[in-house]
Amino acid sequence: MNELINRQYYLASRPVAAPTPEEVPFRDVPLQDPAAGEAVIRNMFISLDPAIRGWMSEVNNYIEPIALGDPIRSSVIGRVVKSNSELVAEGDVVISVGGWERFTTGPAAGMTKLDENSGIPLSNFLSVLGPTGLTAYFGLLEVGKPKKGETVLVSAAAGAVGSVVGQIAKMQGCHVVGMAGTDEKCRWITEELGFDAAINYKTCGDYVQAIREACPSGVDVYFDNVGGEILDAALMCLNRFARVAVCGWISTYNDADAPGPKNLWQLVAESVTIQGFVVLDYIDRFPEGVAQLAEWVIAGKLKFKEEIVDDLDNVLSTFLRLFDGSNQGKLIIRNPE
Ligand SMILES: NC(=O)c1ccc[n+]([C@@H]2O[C@H](COP(=O)([O-])OP(=O)(O)OC[C@H]3O[C@@H](n4cnc5c(N)ncnc54)[C@H](OP(=O)(O)O)[C@@H]3O)[C@@H](O)[C@H]2O)c1
Repeated sequence: MNELINRQYYLASRPVAAPTPEEVPFRDVPLQDPAAGEAVIRNMFISLDPAIRGWMSEVNNYIEPIALGDPIRSSVIGRVVKSNSELVAEGDVVISVGGWERFTTGPAAGMTKLDENSGIPLSNFLSVLGPTGLTAYFGLLEVGKPKKGETVLVSAAAGAVGSVVGQIAKMQGCHVVGMAGTDEKCRWITEELGFDAAINYKTCGDYVQAIREACPSGVDVYFDNVGGEILDAALMCLNRFARVAVCGWISTYNDADAPGPKNLWQLVAESVTIQGFVVLDYIDRFPEGVAQLAEWVIAGKLKFKEEIVDDLDNVLSTFLRLFDGSNQGKLIIRNPE
């Protein structure tokens, strides 16, 4: 075991803007045997999520910041290569909190076994059937609370979370409008996913006018993935008793000086509810969420895209694509076994 080398991309210093290779370099370290209760997994799939950028900073977040010197934290799917626990055995495939590294060593109690022969591609458990799909499911239904006939606006609408949000909102009988950064993304969500309208926020000009045109009855639910100027514009288009589900503010993650929203007064003007959430708020209901998402996927009612990029050494450059919009759906790094 000790002859194996673990390549790790780790946090050398805290980025103030987009993370650089100097802030997230790699090192090769000998792999140690697992301690009692631990197992070692060879990471096959590494989930790339915007939230990881938040964990690189010191700012209070829903889980503790990544410590300086630690591998960058990520959800991973891996195969157990050595176990010092009765909970998992060599050869098992598990989903776990891991890192940007070839091998992760951690408590076996935190590893959940997956059935690699179920016919479901393993990567789906990081995307539509994993944290991403569950974020859309619980965030929209429990925080946004859409009702039949209402208008739902979603930003980063062609992304991993946003694309699922829009399709679930359609299933609730809503008028659904998505905002995305290219015409190709706008075509995908309207022509293939069934959104009623799409706004290319990079070419539409005045956001408020564009939202009002696409949402002639006003906005009842705004599912906010981006914050910033789009949130400010959406606030100006809300109906009475609208709900704003704050899922993420990706437009601010690489900019510590990004201004806050200016139009929060609209919460008073229209008796609006705004609520942030993290998917972990619903951890007790994950089995229900996964079962419903799987049913929709199998029935062909829920479509999704995964962009799987080979090799750990592409991890940082691939991660940065979340912030320039060049990712096509859920971004995942694959380490061939
Ligand atoms: N609360 C939770 O539990 C939870 C869980 C998962 C994710 N999230 C949040 O959900 C959001 C989406 O995450 P995801 O994993 O589904 O990523 P994603 O949407 O697949 O990828 C990020 C997308 O954000 C858009 N974007 C990037 N910078 C932007 C900017 N400055 N202004 C407007 N749009 C921008 C880009 O699309 P365009 O081409 O359209 O610009 C990019 O493709 C993030 O804010 C994330 O933090 C929250």
